Parts: sequence; C-alpha cells; structure tokens
Amino acid sequence: MEKKRFYITTPIYYPSDKLHIGHTYCTVATDAMARYKRLSGYDVLFLTGTDEHGQKIEDKAKEAGVTPKEFVDKIVTGERGVLDLWKLMNISNDRFIRTTDDYHVSAIQKIFKKMYENGDIYKGKYVGKYCKPCESFWTESQLVDGKCPDCGREVQDAEEEAYFFRLSKYADKVQRLLEDTDFLEPRSRVNEMVNNFIKPGLEDLCVSRTSFTWGVPVDFDPGHVVYVWVDALFNYTTALGFLNDKYDDYEKFWPADVHFVGKEIVRFHSIIWPAMLMSMGMPLPKKVFGHGWLLLDGGKMSKSKGNVVDPYILAEMFGVDALRFFLLRTFPFGSDGNFSNEALINTINVDLANDLGNLLSRTVSMVGKYFNGTLPADQAEDAEKDAELVELISSLRSRYEEQMEKFAFQNALSEIFKVISRANKYIDENAPWVLAKDMEQNGPRLARVMYNLLEVLRVCGILLIPFIPDSAAKVLDQIGACESCRTWESAGVYGSLSATVTVQRGENLFPRVDMEKALDQLDEAAQAAKKAALPDLELEPQLTEQVDFDTFCKSDFRAVKVKACENVKKSNKLLKFTLDDGTGTDRQILSGIAQFYKPEDLVGKTLVAIVNLPPRKMMGQESCGMLISAVHTEKGEEKLNLLMIDDKIPAGAKMC
Ligand code: ME8
Repeated sequence: MEKKRFYITTPIYYPSDKLHIGHTYCTVATDAMARYKRLSGYDVLFLTGTDEHGQKIEDKAKEAGVTPKEFVDKIVTGERGVLDLWKLMNISNDRFIRTTDDYHVSAIQKIFKKMYENGDIYKGKYVGKYCKPCESFWTESQLVDGKCPDCGREVQDAEEEAYFFRLSKYADKVQRLLEDTDFLEPRSRVNEMVNNFIKPGLEDLCVSRTSFTWGVPVDFDPGHVVYVWVDALFNYTTALGFLNDKYDDYEKFWPADVHFVGKEIVRFHSIIWPAMLMSMGMPLPKKVFGHGWLLLDGGKMSKSKGNVVDPYILAEMFGVDALRFFLLRTFPFGSDGNFSNEALINTINVDLANDLGNLLSRTVSMVGKYFNGTLPADQAEDAEKDAELVELISSLRSRYEEQMEKFAFQNALSEIFKVISRANKYIDENAPWVLAKDMEQNGPRLARVMYNLLEVLRVCGILLIPFIPDSAAKVLDQIGACESCRTWESAGVYGSLSATVTVQRGENLFPRVDMEKALDQLDEAAQAAKKAALPDLELEPQLTEQVDFDTFCKSDFRAVKVKACENVKKSNKLLKFTLDDGTGTDRQILSGIAQFYKPEDLVGKTLVAIVNLPPRKMMGQESCGMLISAVHTEKGEEKLNLLMIDDKIPAGAKMC
C-alpha cells in the first residue's frame, strides 16, 4: 500500500546574522513533527532553508565590505553557520532551499510574470512608509504610534514606481478561509488577523522595489526586483519543483500539510500567501500554525537587541538532546515562553536525570543484579498490582498521538512523563530488593516486575524518538529492544518485548547538572564567545581635519633616555620617569601606563617625548612633557606600546 504523505515546512531564515535559540526552537519543533510522522508511517518531506534577498542583506554586506552573496554564503554554509547548526541539532530535513539558488530565482520570475499577465499584478506608484529591518511597506493608517506595527521601530518615507498585487480583490475569500476553516491555528490568531488587518480594509500590496538591487530581477522590467516576501513565500513550492526542473515532487507533496511559522509572520502566511496562491490557481496549504516566541527577560530574543542565546554553547554544554527536549517540554508551542538557563538545567535534572535516567539505570542494573542481565521465562503477574501500569503503557500511544496531532508537544511529553513517574512509584510499591531476598519464592514475581518496567521504557523510548532521537535509541539499546519492538505499531501494544530479553547496561544517559557550576560555565562561555566575535584589531580612526605645517613644527619631539622609573604612590595608573633629555638637567614625566609596563623593564630604554607641553601636576607631582605610545584595541582589550627607538640615538636628538 502506498504510504500517506506529509509535507511540513519551517520559515526560511534570514541569514543576516547567526541564528539564535529562538530560531532553533521552531526548527526543532518541525523536526519532532517530521520524525513523528515518519515513525507513524508517513512518507514525509521536511523543508527548511534560507531567505537570502532583500535590502537588509544588501546593507549588511556593504557594511562588511563583501558582496551580498559572499555575505550570505558565510552565514549559511560557513563554519558554525545555518547548515552546521541544523547538523548539530540533528535536524532531519529532507531538503534545504536557498532563495539565491538559480532554479528558485527563475521560477519566481515565471510566477511574477504569471500574476502580471492574469492582471493581479499591475504597475503603480508607491507612496508610504517603509520599515527597513522588517522589509515591510506600510500605509500611514497601519502604523502604531507612527512606528512599524510589527517591530515598533521607526519607519521612513518612501515613494517609488512599483508593481502591486491586488490583495484587496482576495479580502473576502481570505476572510472566509480564516473564519470558516481550520486553516490558521491557534484559533486566537484568526481574530488578530481579521480584526487588525482584514476588517480595516486590505490594500493592494507593493511587490517590487527599485531602491536596491539584491533580489530576483523582474525580467520584463529591468530595475525592479521582486519584493522579498513574494520571493520567500513561494519557496515552499519551488523546492518541490514548481516551475523548475530541479525537483519533481510538486504533484506528490503540494499542498503542504502544515507551515510552522513564528507569530510575527502569521500575517504573511495567512493573508498574503493564500491570496497569491488563489491568484496563481494553486491549492492552498492545509494549515498554518503560528507558534509563540521564546522570550528573554520578557522581550523577544532578537539579533538586534543583543540578548541572543547561542545554541552552540547550550548544545555543547548540555547535549543536543537535552536542549531539544527542553525546548518542547517546557513551552506550549502556540504561546510565548520565558527562556532561562535555570529552567533548562532544571528540566534536565528533573525529567531527564531524575525520572527517565533513574528509571533506566535502576531497571537495567536490577535486571543485571538479580537475573544476570536476562529475564527468565517464568514470570508471575499480580493482576491487582500490575493493572494500572499495564493499562497506562497500553494506552499511552493513543494519548500521545492525540496531542501530537494538535502540535501540542508539551502535552505529548507530559503523557510520557506521567507514565515514567508512575513506573518509578511502581518500583517502590513492589520493592524488588525485598522480593530478591527470596529468589526461589519470589523470582517469577520479580521477573514480571522487571519486565513491566522494561515495557514502560520501551514504549516511552519509541515515543521519545521524535524529541531525543539519539538518546531514545540508546534507551532502546540498553533495554535490549529488538528491531520489531521499536516500531510505532509495537508502541501501541503491551508485551511486545520478548519475555526473556537481555539488557545491555550502558552509559548514564542523562547525568545531573550542577546548577551553580553550570551557570558559571555558561557565563564564561558567553563572555568568551562575545570576545571571539569582536574584531581582532581595532585602530583609532584617522583624523581628517588638517593641521598646517607651521603648527605641526611647533611640537618638539626628542629622544629621551630613561634614567629611573618608579610607580607613583597611591596611584595604580601612573609611572614616574626621570629622563635624560640631552640638556644636562633631568626631566620628570608622569605617564598613565602602569598597567602595561613594570618600571624596572624600562630603565635604560630610549623613548620619544614631546618636551614643550606646559608642565602639569598629577597626584601632586610635576610632569614636564609626554611620552609617545602606540595604542590599539585587540579582541576588545586596550593595548599600549611605548615608542622605543634605537639606543644609538643620543638623548636630545630632535624628531622631525
Ligand atoms: O521571518 N522565538 O526569517 P527570520 C521563537 N525569512 N521564534 C523565533 C524567535 C524567538 N525568539 N526569533 C525568531 C523570517 N523566531 C523570514 C521567513 S518564510 C517564507 C520567510 C522565528 O530569520 C520567527 O518567528 O527572521 C520566524 O518564524 C523564524 O524564526 C525565522 O525568522
């Protein structure tokens, strides 16, 4: 029988900066869904990618002194870039699209032309406001307090000749789609879209730009590039081969089963996207799910705010599975959630180390201790004591499935952990260590208690595959689960594990994390990463204001020899120099360089000083002149080197 198909997408990311934990959240959720569908027998296509055009990227590339393509290449394919991150996070995407890929670019040109030819795109003049970071045009009435309604930042006046998409024509149809179907979830987002955007009147959408060039060129009107959101949204279809030869499964997988998107881009996906698909005569995706944000200190994590949490640091410290698990266990997918390192460590300790990790290590070690690793066939059920646990195991898959079908990852995991907690209690109720005192009498009963615990671990292990794929496989390895008792089908049946199973004791999968130590380490790692991100070398900008030659010549620079040097009492900055300046009278100069030099290292050196500055008092002592140093910043740290010249040069020699 042919498998049922499932097509799921993440938003394609703007490679304007490195991705943070907020981006990772959505991709991990999509990955869990894709893995769940594969596990439960679907033929899955999971797409992610990068959205590489637009003014923001063009500007950033200019700032970095590279071409836009070089700029995005570094962030997408470079070290610790987008592709590396998805590999690290064990993301199982089947396809990765870059909107700069040739096949996508030419398909977008065809799509744009088709909508132009059918009359839904027309040429006009754009007068309005533009939010550069969001790449969004707004009308005056859409602004909130005169600022961008999406991000709250300042907008600029904008006027240009442009193409428009007849969004207004589709307003009624889109409203009906949102109100009368389950196209958009969670439901609360429907009211937001209808009340804030459709009811006030949907205006036609400006879909081309002439003010920059980094985009898909409108092939029939040079100078115009396609609006980045038109280019981006159609990725979901070009990545299947729509209007291109690169792939050929558009017929097979379109329409998508679900687009997972962050709440701030629901507007694009639930209004503009269906309207354009209607214009193209294409089927609509079955669902758009708008997930919440991960917040940090109550605000959205974002690159521009600088409060980014680096997924590399977290995954390297706690493990990829622990991080994946935390993201989906802690926050309801449709709502915002507060991210904190403490919450992450807590979840690892409570759920993974205490509940799951303990159940696994206790069970496997008891089977080892009491039965040499292999359970005997002779087992004794105790209907009364076993009934509840057996019922929980048998029904877990369907409770889990009900939640997964609603994208309620947190609830699906709750169902699993309820059974794990119950199993830990079952150990205490049955006290295996007491049974083991009389193996002749209690051996069969003890064997059945162990078997039931292994069954809990097996079913939970299978259902955890979408969330913690590597660790779940290790759980199943340790309990000795055979291939056929790791399947979705077997997860719905109590008793799939062979009665005489042999366990394989292995590593402790989820070690407890010492909260304080880990928080300190995180701080250090974050500081080190911040430092590493700083430019290696920073130089003072050169002055552009000119001095005339005569003014310059008034400064008297001389070679001076250090006769003595000492720290100034009560100052941790100042060094006091006694210098031979060639006049026969010692010269005293104070210099704030104590953090860079030990006084004894400078005695005998030949330095350069400006000698005709008016004397100054510092810490009660007179300083006659100034020593010349070279200064720069390296990895954020200030560096200073005294200008030292050849000792052959006599004291008092003039510098000119
Ligand atoms: O929006 N918490 O790209 P993007 C949760 N290129 N999700 C977050 C988040 C946070 N703190 N920060 C970002 C784009 N995201 C477009 C998409 S699709 C045709 C084009 C989510 O890189 C955000 O909500 O700015 C969005 O869904 C995704 O990361 C990509 O954001």
